[in-house]
Amino acid sequence: MKSGDKYIPLEKLNSIKKEALENPEKFWGEQAKCLDWNKTWDKVLEWHVPYAKWFINGRLNACYNCVDRHILNNRRNKAAIIWEGENGECRILTYYELYREVNKFANVLQNLGVETGDRVAIYMPMIPEAAIAMLACARIGAIHSVVFSGFSADALAERINDAEAKVLITSDILYRRGKKIDLKGIVDKALLNCPTINHTVYVKRNNDLKLMEGRDYCWDELMKGAKNYVEPVPVEANHPLFILYTSGTTGKPKGVVHSTGGFMVYTTKTLEWTWGINDMDVFWCTADIGWITGHSYVVYAPLACGTTIVMYEGAIDYPNPGRIWEIIEKHGVTILYTAPTAIRMLMMYGEEWVKKYNLSTLRMLGSVGEPINPRAWKWYYEVVGQKRCPICDCYWQTETGGHVIYPPIGIQDIPLKPGSATFPGIGIDADVVDEYGNSLPPNKRGLLVIKNPWPGMLMGLWKNDARYRAAYWERIKNCYCPSDYAIKDEDGYFWILGRADEVLNVAGHRIGTAEVEHVLISHPAVAESAVIGKPDDIKGEVPVAFVVLNKGYQNKKELKEELIHYVKETMGPIATPHMILFVNKLPKTRSGKIMRRILKKLIMGEELGDLSTIEDNTSVDEIRKELSDFK
Ligand code: PRX
Repeated sequence: MKSGDKYIPLEKLNSIKKEALENPEKFWGEQAKCLDWNKTWDKVLEWHVPYAKWFINGRLNACYNCVDRHILNNRRNKAAIIWEGENGECRILTYYELYREVNKFANVLQNLGVETGDRVAIYMPMIPEAAIAMLACARIGAIHSVVFSGFSADALAERINDAEAKVLITSDILYRRGKKIDLKGIVDKALLNCPTINHTVYVKRNNDLKLMEGRDYCWDELMKGAKNYVEPVPVEANHPLFILYTSGTTGKPKGVVHSTGGFMVYTTKTLEWTWGINDMDVFWCTADIGWITGHSYVVYAPLACGTTIVMYEGAIDYPNPGRIWEIIEKHGVTILYTAPTAIRMLMMYGEEWVKKYNLSTLRMLGSVGEPINPRAWKWYYEVVGQKRCPICDCYWQTETGGHVIYPPIGIQDIPLKPGSATFPGIGIDADVVDEYGNSLPPNKRGLLVIKNPWPGMLMGLWKNDARYRAAYWERIKNCYCPSDYAIKDEDGYFWILGRADEVLNVAGHRIGTAEVEHVLISHPAVAESAVIGKPDDIKGEVPVAFVVLNKGYQNKKELKEELIHYVKETMGPIATPHMILFVNKLPKTRSGKIMRRILKKLIMGEELGDLSTIEDNTSVDEIRKELSDFK
């Protein structure tokens, strides 16, 4: 089913965009009516660069908007969450069942002493309880901080401690590629260093779960005695809904804070504009709830729209490469939203796997997380969508809350160009500028900027104002700088070219090179290290580490393996270096800055260009030799 009948004329879209920029208060005030508010705001926007407040003194509850309001109408018995496990196990929760579970768990949190404004950490696999826990926090105005379940004990502890979370919600195990991963073991290790956590709640999936008395509880046990109804707490629109940690250019992750009102309005509207979502849809966004895509477009926006979502635990190519297509056929998925890295992997398995299944229910496809290369785009469009489904390439970030550059295909059938996320979205004044902030002519590479506030914009970084200003607002005066390179072509289409800072994009996940370096340096064998990204056919980019060893340690294969394992254990599998090279010296400027640009060129086998600022040329010769030995 196409949403063609809902299309508005192009001139109309352009006039909406114009109005949204010229009169944001009027425009967003109108849009905010997509939610149910307990109290209307006094003012739509207060903007003192770089702080925006939206819907001031308006009161609402995100959980009420995602759950309660649907059970009051004919969505009461509609499927809210279709959950599928890797082994084919399936659970379906209607909106009413979701309402019941969320209420009870909200009461569980209250009984554990959680109050409005407290932080709750969630470290869970992709199971319905993860969404229930998020919504239960929102119901009582507690701020959740979801930590990706692939992160290690140290990474989990660091995030819990920064947010000073009181309670941790987790699970004893998770299933991945047929294996049981022991989350409990990781959590126990993390909790040795988390003084603020009073209680932990485990979803029990294994029989031999050992709990620490007074600290640990079993989800089911607590739910048994819980009340059936908890009044949703109407919070002021700028009350934080959640904190989500993401990678930046230093070793410490950034706690991005999102509001309740602005975030909910923006994600709900962008979901509608992008996909023209309707009650017939079965929406499957394959992202994990540990990332922003899982917050905005698995949980909050689709549920606020009363959509049926698919949630899947496991690898999309396990136990065979047809798994993803099988799920689409089984549940009649109408919109698939995934990442280029997944598309490239599925493409590698060949189209015979796709053809085994009936994918005729699909009406739209989405791509997010990194630029999609034209070959993968063509395959996605022709083989998966059978030339019937438009591809929405959505550019955005943890910080932007929702899509900022994307085709609003839900309301307008704009022509697509493979690899371009098309135009700045409604209410977004984006441009490509030089380092002084001057707008660049077509096809000139520069920095992407957003010149105005929008409701989904982050409120700031958790307890770190200075870093918020430095990370986003100081590079280009008075503009939000996402740190991505882009060009704008002669037709005004935006093309994102990749990160303009020391952040890697590995399989659509952000990893700070400084974070990996920080871990490596904490190993006794390592004196210095520099990490760069090497292009990879499937993952887009993989980390490569150059390491200078401390005295007494030798250049041995076992040590390389040990360091690779050490990073994997300390940060989590996504940060695992693809290779490690031991060198005697890193190329540095005379002022002592590591020249990662040179390392990158060396690994790519490219011309090095101007070496006049390098302190010692021998470092380059040595790395060249090391690389040729490696091959
Ligand atoms: O570099 C851009 C890339 O992913 C970064 C944001 O990562 P994260 O905060 O983890 O959020 C990922 C999912 C929203 C951006 O700075 N990126 C994201 N979407 C695209 C993209 N690059 C190109 N095209 C996209 N559609």
